[in-house]
Amino acid sequence: MRTVALSLSLTLTLGLTACGGPSGVHATPGSAGVGDPYFPKSGNGGYDVTHYDLTLAYTPDTSDASDTSETRDSAAAPTLTATATITARATTPLSTFDLDFQGMKVNSLTVDGKMASWTRSGQELKVRPPAALRKGRTFRTTVRYSGTPETITDPDGSDEGWLPTADGALALGEPTGSMAWFPGNDHPSDKATYDITITVPKGLQAVSNGELRSETTTGTARATTYSWHTPQPMATYLATVAIGHYDITRTTTRNGLPVYVAVDPQEAAASRKVLAKLPEIMEWEEYNFGPYPFSSTGAIVDRGGDAGYALETQNRPFFPGAPDTATLVHELAHQWYGDSVTPKTWRDMWLNEGFATYAEWLWAEDHDGDTAQQTFDALYKGTYFDDKADDDAVWAFPPATPTSAAHISDSPVYERGAMVLHKIRRTVGDARFYDIIQGWAATHRHGNANTADFTAYVEKMAPTKDFTEIWKNWLYGHGKPARP
Ligand code: TRP
Ligand code: ZN
Repeated sequence: MRTVALSLSLTLTLGLTACGGPSGVHATPGSAGVGDPYFPKSGNGGYDVTHYDLTLAYTPDTSDASDTSETRDSAAAPTLTATATITARATTPLSTFDLDFQGMKVNSLTVDGKMASWTRSGQELKVRPPAALRKGRTFRTTVRYSGTPETITDPDGSDEGWLPTADGALALGEPTGSMAWFPGNDHPSDKATYDITITVPKGLQAVSNGELRSETTTGTARATTYSWHTPQPMATYLATVAIGHYDITRTTTRNGLPVYVAVDPQEAAASRKVLAKLPEIMEWEEYNFGPYPFSSTGAIVDRGGDAGYALETQNRPFFPGAPDTATLVHELAHQWYGDSVTPKTWRDMWLNEGFATYAEWLWAEDHDGDTAQQTFDALYKGTYFDDKADDDAVWAFPPATPTSAAHISDSPVYERGAMVLHKIRRTVGDARFYDIIQGWAATHRHGNANTADFTAYVEKMAPTKDFTEIWKNWLYGHGKPARP
């Protein structure tokens, strides 16, 4: 009896020790990824971020540009000194957990105010808190870091992360760029609210997501601090910071939504006419997609050479140079489809790009351009693009399953994704179609969804219709479907 009891308590004690103490029974390391089929290292297991508080101080590279000596890079002043405080809830007992963070230098790290040790390997910053974290516990990780953030090259060859611009810098995060400028759970499935505070040398401006809470210049420090607040959940890839000289226009839409537009002075003249349409586009999109999901809107326009693409950064889409109307319609449509209803994994990209592309077709149809049917027909006939290779590329793979990470922004995701939506519209009719796209945005507002959620939703909304052929041939099928 006694012997049994002894050995039992001994086992228990050993078990607790191995699991990191009483608070962490069975605590184990959080995984280094969330299992994304295209970006296996993106995100991390075992916790859910609720809020990011980022305080960034940016100093332009003050080294002499004419100095081409070998030592120039290492001698250049750091461009970013930052503190990130990440509030998260443990979803499993954690002995260690990872953050995604690529490059820069970590200077210190605490968990709930206590020094924590860390190791780094590639994009994984592994944190060992002083005591294990029990499941359900809310904990705060503070990372102090500095250095020059990296520009990351995507699998498709485009640049993201931290991009130096003609007069400042720009942070763009799709799909994995946020980890270049702040540590976090860099995957679309974990959305959080944000406070982003940026201090820049006086004379420069700093624009970010959400609403500008304050702008303060201290005479002695010769610096200006901009504090931005994002009260609705945001995926890491949609977070942005744009530093430079901007013409700022602050207005409100007819229903009182704040509009904050920042335009590089060199792009101001070319942008004026199209940006004047922003309120009208917002109204048209609210009419078609339902209530706008965020508490402010706007745009950021930098110079053409500053980035190779536009991006639907939350509240304030980014444009490299003056956008055309279709691109403005596209990026604003993403605020509903992508930013509010966010893909569960990078495989579900067509839920972003198919919708935003279809928004362009609908805009054209409603504004004396081609009908969506004409656009669909041109794509099916292979007369849409200027050259045959582009027309053929539409059929390279099914929208729901891009070939690899290098292809998540190819035309099957955009144009063929839009064709899927048009097929649904033709099957259910206009009234039901608009109910579906509005209902989809309402049902998953500020959340995440995948392709299976979408097909189930469409079937539920139109129970008498048969979508078998659309799903099988258009959404999941390889090659060009036999019939339009
Ligand atoms: N989402 C952007 C748009 O449609 C395009 C884009 C930029 C993109 N970077 C990307 C798409 C990375 C996929 C991956 O305007
Ligand atoms: Zn897009």
